[in-house]
Amino acid sequence: MAATVITGIGELTTNDGPALADAALVLDGDRVAWVGTASAAPPADLRVDVEGRAVLPGWVDSHTHLVFAGDRTAEFAARMAGAPYTAGGIAVTVEATRAASDGQLAEVLGRHVREAVAQGTTCLETKTGYGLTVADEVRSARIAAGVVDEVTFLGAHLVPAGTTAEDYVELVRGEMLEGVAPYVRWADVFCETGAFDEDASRAVLTAAAARGLGLRVHGNQLGPGPGVRLAVELGAASVDHCTHLTAADVDALAGSDTVATLLPACDLSTRQPLPEARRLLDAGATVALASNCNPGSSYTSSMAFCVATAVLQLRMSVEEAVRAATWGGARALRREHEVGVLRVGARADVHVLDAPSVTHLAYRPGVPLTHAVWRRGERVR
Ligand code: NIG
Repeated sequence: MAATVITGIGELTTNDGPALADAALVLDGDRVAWVGTASAAPPADLRVDVEGRAVLPGWVDSHTHLVFAGDRTAEFAARMAGAPYTAGGIAVTVEATRAASDGQLAEVLGRHVREAVAQGTTCLETKTGYGLTVADEVRSARIAAGVVDEVTFLGAHLVPAGTTAEDYVELVRGEMLEGVAPYVRWADVFCETGAFDEDASRAVLTAAAARGLGLRVHGNQLGPGPGVRLAVELGAASVDHCTHLTAADVDALAGSDTVATLLPACDLSTRQPLPEARRLLDAGATVALASNCNPGSSYTSSMAFCVATAVLQLRMSVEEAVRAATWGGARALRREHEVGVLRVGARADVHVLDAPSVTHLAYRPGVPLTHAVWRRGERVR
């Protein structure tokens, strides 16, 4: 791959020090080879002048559910007409996913990944969780493993019809975990009233940790609950949603290495209150922003939308929101050494905005601002 020097950068956000003006960036192979002032840039095979545009690391979307089939437009429309979100719709997607062929699942996944990349997402996590049988969960994990950067096992998404919670938890922490393990790095559990209670969540997570997987938790989405506390106690990399937090939850997160991953597009789509990002940040917690792209609770792949919402509604500064959607996501995936950052040796994942500064992400909400994207050093847009 030819080395590329990107010049004419209006504002360079690296997440490795203050934003730089009059900067240049050299990409060599799949890595960042040089960062500095344009006048000192070394020669390269290819020169791309971005004519004053802002450059930042590609988005790191650390929470999606993209192995699915089917559609839940009707559920969304009913919600907008006043019906509550109960997560019961997961069963609708499970039925459609089980009925789909491998090729159909791969096509849906690939389509959404391409959609995300075209908007500047360069590192993406996705989960199983719409299979809920051993065969369907293993199939989902296998299909995802070839396509995305990180795969999470979410067999504990919902107790499927026809089984008891006790029996299903045993299946998840036993045969299902064993089947998916070759394809996944993470395990997750939907710790919520109506899904998995604290004991069941703990049983799944401790088995996954013993099998060598990192932990993530869906917690405190629809109401206060034990998810955040459990995630912190078990040393999970991230607890996602964090919509309903007590003071003790905020303190626990602030005193831990567990990232609070906020999913504001989901809260808007499910008519939940918006998470209290300011409270978390002011307490010292690490915050990530992710899309939660899935057909039920948050059908968007737009990290820019999440950033704009975080600024306009969650009262994060633009810098905090951009960092949360890049470095924060990387930290939630324990990959901050190589993605979500532009420094020598990091992955050459670069997002050029059609705007002079990242402020425009919130100043011009809803406007597609992605001008160019490099992913692993390859120009993909
Ligand atoms: O993160 N909360 C649980 N899981 C997904 C929603 C899945 C669905 O409704 O299909 C979420 O919001």
